[in-house]
Amino acid sequence: MRASDVIYDYAMHHSDIKQGESNATSSGRPVTPGMEVDVVVSALAFGGQAVARVRRFVVFVWGALPGETVRIHIDRVYKRHAEATLLQVIEPSPNRCTPPCRHFAHCGGCRWQMLDYEAQLQTKQEQVRDCFERLGKLSGFHMEPIRRMPYPWHYRNKVEFSVGRDPRGAKVIGFHPPGRWDAVMQIQECHLLPQPVIQVRGIVEEWLRASELEPWNPRSHTGSIHHLTIRHSVGSNTILAGIASRDPDLIGAAELAHRLKAIPGFIGLSHTQIIRARNLPTQQRTQQIWGVDRLTERLGDLSLEFSLDAFFQTNSHMANVLYATAAEAAELGGNEVVWDLYSGTGSIALYLAHATRAVLGIEVVETAIQDARRNARANDISNAHFVLGDVRRTLKQILEGRLNLSTGLKKPDVVILDPPRGGLAKKVVARVAAARPQRVVYISCNPSTQAGDLALFAEAGYPLRSVTPVDMFPHTPHIEAVALLAP
Ligand SMILES: C[S@@+](CC[C@H](N)C(=O)[O-])C[C@H]1O[C@@H](n2cnc3c(N)ncnc32)[C@H](O)[C@@H]1O
Repeated sequence: MRASDVIYDYAMHHSDIKQGESNATSSGRPVTPGMEVDVVVSALAFGGQAVARVRRFVVFVWGALPGETVRIHIDRVYKRHAEATLLQVIEPSPNRCTPPCRHFAHCGGCRWQMLDYEAQLQTKQEQVRDCFERLGKLSGFHMEPIRRMPYPWHYRNKVEFSVGRDPRGAKVIGFHPPGRWDAVMQIQECHLLPQPVIQVRGIVEEWLRASELEPWNPRSHTGSIHHLTIRHSVGSNTILAGIASRDPDLIGAAELAHRLKAIPGFIGLSHTQIIRARNLPTQQRTQQIWGVDRLTERLGDLSLEFSLDAFFQTNSHMANVLYATAAEAAELGGNEVVWDLYSGTGSIALYLAHATRAVLGIEVVETAIQDARRNARANDISNAHFVLGDVRRTLKQILEGRLNLSTGLKKPDVVILDPPRGGLAKKVVARVAAARPQRVVYISCNPSTQAGDLALFAEAGYPLRSVTPVDMFPHTPHIEAVALLAP
């Protein structure tokens, strides 16, 4: 989340820092860049940063917790807020714990590792309620306790590592430190990734260091190796890896495949050439170097196949919990027609298909539709149908009777929505309401845009009945929530 989003969200929540109302001194603000100051943290803002005040002027700082007295360094000062770096925790919160990862202080990947898991869950629960009540002006809804991950570590099933050189000049594979698109820090451990993924990273880095190949340098536009993508399946304990470079072939690829085969469960290595020519869109050409290009993941009773780049929820265990939560909200009796809007690779539609008369997925990415149809066939599901198209336009076509759909699919009993972070266009809300479903289940990874959309749904006759947050991303400030709306 960008700082501008954080201040927007925070300002929307707290009237005391709205435009023109800052309580700054006559010179403008009570802080200047470079100042060191001791403050007491009042809250965690939506997006994850701590909020403190210097004479009521709001300062955001990463790494501090509510109730703590901390020493901070003011980095940047804006009209309505400042950003600071944490220097010292003077009085720690009882919810502070020791982050297990050695890279925690510099990585920025899981910003809440220093916050006890129970306190993370409670904060997320409160933030969803706060977003809905303050941003959406919603009331009278039931809130279920957040669904937790029983073992909240090593859950990320996909990662894209960057490739570069560290300050001493060694080739490294890791992540960009926060705000540094041109630097890469080596990642030797990661508590969100499964151990075999870390092993793959180490082997590829060793191979790269021994080779002549150069990391791509985004400043000088020289070198070749861009990134390393790794995908892991919990259900089948298998791994795929892919290297992206500027070259047509990957020199030394056979040797790399030979080394990776030693990892139990490693089933495929690919190489993608990134082709960029002036005034032309970027193109990609992928070759399989060794093994297969898909892995199988379990989802409930289903076996779903995914390629390295296909979209699937990044936490496979919690994907089951998320979809089960959506299924409960949908209250399916076996005879309903369900629309799954923004269906991706069709996993929600396929998960629900056995409990419905028919399900229709709508998605704009062609390869995702192909994956959904292939997975339907592979799982002997004949009542799931997928349409390629933009949701807004496709809904219009359906409502106007201009889309060639079998009659049984034209009128939904339940609509499930799972849009990208930005939320829904107003017309999508209006068109879903015009289809007159009995229930709408709205899944979102961004409660602040979800809150605004829920307010529009309420105006259109679909008030919010209940919401269940689901912790898809432990140790990060990200929140997922499943909302049920009904007339
Ligand atoms: C959050 S993902 C949901 C994927 C799926 N429901 C799942 O659980 O795996 C959002 C999906 O919306 C698709 N999408 C984005 N904009 C769209 C649009 N205007 N019309 C249709 N699909 C869209 C994206 O390609 C992506 O697959």
